[in-house]
Amino acid sequence: DKSGYKHFMAKEIAEQPTVLQGALAHYINADATAVTLPEPGLDFTQIERMTMVACGTAFYACLVAKYWFEQIAGIPVEVDVASEFRYREPPVTPGTVALFVSQSGETADTLAALRYMDGKAAKIVSVVNVPESSIARESNLSLPILAGTEIGVASTKAFTCQLTTLAILALNAAHARGRMTDAELSEKLGNLRGMPGILNLALGVEDKIKSVASELSEARDILFLGRGAMYPLAHEGALKLKEISYIHAEAYASGELKHGPIALVDQHVPVIVMAPRDALFDKTISNMQEVMARGGKVLLITDQKGAAEAGQGVWDTIVMPEIDPFLAPILYAVPAQLLAYHTAIAKGTDVDQPRNLAKSVTVE
Ligand code: F6R
Repeated sequence: DKSGYKHFMAKEIAEQPTVLQGALAHYINADATAVTLPEPGLDFTQIERMTMVACGTAFYACLVAKYWFEQIAGIPVEVDVASEFRYREPPVTPGTVALFVSQSGETADTLAALRYMDGKAAKIVSVVNVPESSIARESNLSLPILAGTEIGVASTKAFTCQLTTLAILALNAAHARGRMTDAELSEKLGNLRGMPGILNLALGVEDKIKSVASELSEARDILFLGRGAMYPLAHEGALKLKEISYIHAEAYASGELKHGPIALVDQHVPVIVMAPRDALFDKTISNMQEVMARGGKVLLITDQKGAAEAGQGVWDTIVMPEIDPFLAPILYAVPAQLLAYHTAIAKGTDVDQPRNLAKSVTVE
């Protein structure tokens, strides 16, 4: 049931504030002072490193989580796509927690990677949407993302719920490892609690996105740029666009541009820059200006402050609400999804059933 929406994807994008609220209430107590994990929990003081493995969108959620766990919890994190990880058969050091992210919980490569780690890693943790799935059942600790059934082939609400669950886990780890005081934890949990409201505001940019999407739909290639935790978001934006609009899109870390990809830039290649006004903003903007100096057509996704400081001369700007930089990856998923959706609509493709794709990839 599409509840009046034209596509499941549109419905699932729109229901993110609601499902996120449920996930937050599940893990965070009423006064936003503590996190409750399912049994048997996880002792983060004993962890030396984490290995995160997934495919597709879930892989990008892991890449964001790497920034979070390393920055706030001080845990070294390695991230890999399941199809590479499983055949590389990497050595596993003691004290490694293996974490698997999967919407379906049945992805063949992710499940095989989990089975490879069984008996080698200190703990197997999974972040899944389907609690009775194979990946959930074969883990020592399974964290539900509580996104509800996702029908659109392009993952949307599962991604923001994966990120939210991983953010909560990273905060829990930082606090347990003495890197965050009770007051700091409580502040961050409070900010997380505010996410549904902020996502609602973000959904308000839909009309603006429609207006740029018709022009994007004419492009043959589109580049996405981001730095820090926005780099995985650039990847997610490019993946979503490829999947449903069939436009070739690539993501680069902003700083990598001058090492090759800037050669692609001309007035026919739109460049989408995801840059909240955070500590890395100036660096990203200087990369953006390099693109503009070569005639590149820039769509800047930023906040009010970012737009005021750097919006001059860009093709167009999409303005997001202000947010705690730690939580920006969750918020910036929304414009990435809406851009892909409306570009696909402008092209007339079948967004819920993109060609060649299946919702759950249970064969390798
Ligand atoms: C992208 C998408 C895929 C999945 C990937 C992993 O929109 O849906 O990239 O994210 O196939 O699937 P799960 O999360 O079920 O393991």
